[in-house]
Amino acid sequence: MSEKLLEMINEQMNFELQSAYEYKAMQIYADDEEFEGFAHWFGHQVMEEIEHAEKMTKFLQEVGFKPVYKAMEAPNTEFTDLLDVTKKALDHEKEVTRRIHEIAKAAREEGDERVISFIQWFVDEQVEEEDTFGKLITRLERINGNYGGLYILDGQLAHRG
Ligand code: FEO
Repeated sequence: MSEKLLEMINEQMNFELQSAYEYKAMQIYADDEEFEGFAHWFGHQVMEEIEHAEKMTKFLQEVGFKPVYKAMEAPNTEFTDLLDVTKKALDHEKEVTRRIHEIAKAAREEGDERVISFIQWFVDEQVEEEDTFGKLITRLERINGNYGGLYILDGQLAHRG
């Protein structure tokens, strides 16, 4: 297992925590705007990202690499509305996907079966992540800022468990 591959996974572990940070800022925005369902939903997303980072930490430790935690960037806190939040979330997920695919490509080039197998879960997870945000964007575009629609959706998002 090459040092380069392990460092790429370590980098991604840090980026998953950065993702949690970005979603925390989105949670706070939704909460400030009194959309409790959205806030709950993004809070759940924060926990998922921490779990993603933990999966990577565990793998690195299992193969004898000491995980290195790095400084995180301040998350974006500039949002115009919930549609803007959700579009920024999808953009972020696309960047996560790009990075995951780079790890998968490097693992294939090195013929590293353990990393190929490990990273496949994340490849699949990213399909779901992008689909989830894509659907939310479609619904928000249809609602088109109508408060009745927004509060119905907000009520539905409150049930994510
Ligand atoms: Fe862990 Fe949402 O990517």
